[in-house]
Amino acid sequence: MACSCHNLDVMEIQLGTDIIDKSVYGRAIVHLRDRKVRLPKFSELAAPNTIPSAIERQLAGIGPDEPNALNLFRVHWFNGTNRVGKVVVPEHIILPFEITGVRSPIIVALGTPFPMIGAHKVLAAYACLVPRLVRGEFDPIVQRAVWPSTGNYCRGGIAISRILGCRGVAVLPEGMSVERFRWLESWISNPGDIIRTPGTESNVREIYEECELLSQDPNNVIFNQFREFGNYLVHRQCTGAALSTIVDAYQCACPEARPAAFVATSGSSGTLGAGDALKENYGTKIVAVEALECPTLLYAGFGSHNIQGIGDKHIPFIHNVMNTDLVTGVSDESTDLLNVLFNDKVGLDYLESRRNVSPTILQRFGELGLSSLANIIGAIKISKHLGLGDQDLVVTVATDGASLYESEREKTIKETLSGALDTISAAEIFGEHLSGIRSDHVMELNSRDRERIFNLGYYTWVEQRGESVDRFQERRKMSFWNSLMEHLTVWDDMIEEFNGRTGMNGRVLKRD
Ligand SMILES: Cc1ncc(COP(=O)(O)O)c(C=O)c1O
Repeated sequence: MACSCHNLDVMEIQLGTDIIDKSVYGRAIVHLRDRKVRLPKFSELAAPNTIPSAIERQLAGIGPDEPNALNLFRVHWFNGTNRVGKVVVPEHIILPFEITGVRSPIIVALGTPFPMIGAHKVLAAYACLVPRLVRGEFDPIVQRAVWPSTGNYCRGGIAISRILGCRGVAVLPEGMSVERFRWLESWISNPGDIIRTPGTESNVREIYEECELLSQDPNNVIFNQFREFGNYLVHRQCTGAALSTIVDAYQCACPEARPAAFVATSGSSGTLGAGDALKENYGTKIVAVEALECPTLLYAGFGSHNIQGIGDKHIPFIHNVMNTDLVTGVSDESTDLLNVLFNDKVGLDYLESRRNVSPTILQRFGELGLSSLANIIGAIKISKHLGLGDQDLVVTVATDGASLYESEREKTIKETLSGALDTISAAEIFGEHLSGIRSDHVMELNSRDRERIFNLGYYTWVEQRGESVDRFQERRKMSFWNSLMEHLTVWDDMIEEFNGRTGMNGRVLKRD
């Protein structure tokens, strides 16, 4: 995997308002002016109450899954359950003791209300593309936006590309869920723009290799989520703000409560960026979750698993490892079986009648995809490990919902449950994979553990991808990550300038 891939690595973050290529910038302006696209600022996505009311009024007539430029203004956490209107506090579930068996409230922020893909990865895709667009680094007329991913990020990228009127290419392992491919087929007109790489969830390297080939054509621009600081920054700003709003709302009712831990599976590590915001605001501990079948952070291990969306066997460049406090491993056997228990009538009846779980909670279980279940299990493990009590909130996210995993459910029912879920199996799953959760495979990181994980990234980024040692090393310091935050203001200024040039600042937007 020696690096010949200039495109993946031309990813220098630069401050300032320099336009990289004036002719590319000019073409991008003409293109977006013709399409009447107004770009939201990152501050608007972090605080959607600042979105102009004229846009809000127009949005009311637009479906959340339409490829309409106005839907860029829904790429935030504050969409309501109907995904049309906005809410003051982001949609979330607070899991009760009956499910978790722990006293600490586990708060799960829901990603399903995000537009177009029903997952928060569309936010990361926007944050990777738009800074480059407004600096004249991406030509939406002639260049193709290439989205390497294990599924949701590339769907987000395809949605953003289509809205902006540029060609998008999804690169993902062939073994990902059929629902992801169905979605892609319905959004992409040229079948060649869906590139299937060998393997499944753990085969991130094969995705990189395909991107290396693609990058030899200068018209392909690779938006590498594992490397783009826009991904980290948008989660620190927007996901951080959303989670803080939920915490603050909880604290209004229970002033003694405090967010003790933020738990997130790591794919690109973008979502973990929200942990930096919570730690800054409340001193929250940051917990990274990975599949036990591929325990790279825990044990420098390898393997394959089915917790779709959490790529592995490497440390993403945008993972602020030195600010991570704990790591825990969750088995995909648990997530596969809970995916059945939480979405099958027999399972739901069991949870209601035998476990006294309220129907209002149960009806939201469809909003929990496989990695959301891993986050919940991770949160329970951490609560047990740290001995947390009823004032200690554990905050996590549901990146996507269960509808993306119906085929996986069918597979588990067929292969593991002999064709159907009955009440005895439901009770066994509950006993083993919920009430039986223990604080095993939890590691509290000391400085040596952090160094070990951090250094593991050297092999991917310096040896294989040609990153400079200095750039690699500067990521050890929190001051580096804090200094990155300045980019958000600069990018917002550039977005405003760009919108001014396309004539879209304060204008009525396109509705078709
Ligand atoms: C379903 C799902 N869960 C979790 C993740 C991991 O999120 P992140 O890439 O922000 O670490 C992803 C990433 O694509 C995902 O698609």
